[in-house]
Amino acid sequence: MKKVKLENQGVGPFPGMIVGATVNERPTYTTVGAGGCACLEPVLCVSLMNTHYITEGIMRTGSFSVNIPSSRLVKELDFCGTVSGKNTDKSGLFTPFFDQTGQAPMIAECSLNFLCNVCDKTEIRGFTMFFGDIVAAFVNEDCLINGKPDPIKIDPVIMMGFSYCNLESVIGQPFSEGKKLNNFCG
Ligand SMILES: Cc1cc2nc3c(=O)[nH]c(=O)nc-3n(C[C@H](O)[C@H](O)[C@H](O)COP(=O)(O)O)c2cc1C
Repeated sequence: MKKVKLENQGVGPFPGMIVGATVNERPTYTTVGAGGCACLEPVLCVSLMNTHYITEGIMRTGSFSVNIPSSRLVKELDFCGTVSGKNTDKSGLFTPFFDQTGQAPMIAECSLNFLCNVCDKTEIRGFTMFFGDIVAAFVNEDCLINGKPDPIKIDPVIMMGFSYCNLESVIGQPFSEGKKLNNFCG
């Protein structure tokens, strides 16, 4: 297949995440694509511009939540990524809920929630990448199959360039599909 060299394109695909934190004693929410799993232990990372409203809150409280909205919440996902808490109070957008293990608000309307306490951070070109130990995780009961979170029911928003997409089907099992190629390497 011939490759086309891309110029100035958006990166991705990434799952859409809404990060929650407390700023000025109120919940606030910011959309993040730059983030994910940091290592084999339960540590998530999110990269936030230093000038964002939410960043100061995470710095001060040492706590953030990562909330995975379903595709039904694509408008809210986009809103939290285009409006700043500096000018607009986003606290009323969602129903916050809390856990005693951290200070950040989690979003009841999102299918999957992780509460993280900052264990490390690093600066990169005007952004701070926060690493957080997952201290609590929640999933909507109707997103479980046989007691396990089901990605299709969680229905995350996948973003890339100028598009938001959703998941269609399960296509395999990690650490299993590759075994079908064992003969390939002799
Ligand atoms: C799809 C999408 C993804 C985004 N990803 C990030 C990101 O990974 N890091 C970041 O700092 N800003 C990201 N942004 C921009 C912020 O969400 C946006 O500037 C937001 O309004 C900042 O809010 P705040 O000032 O209330 O914190 C993203 C925006 C959108 C729409």
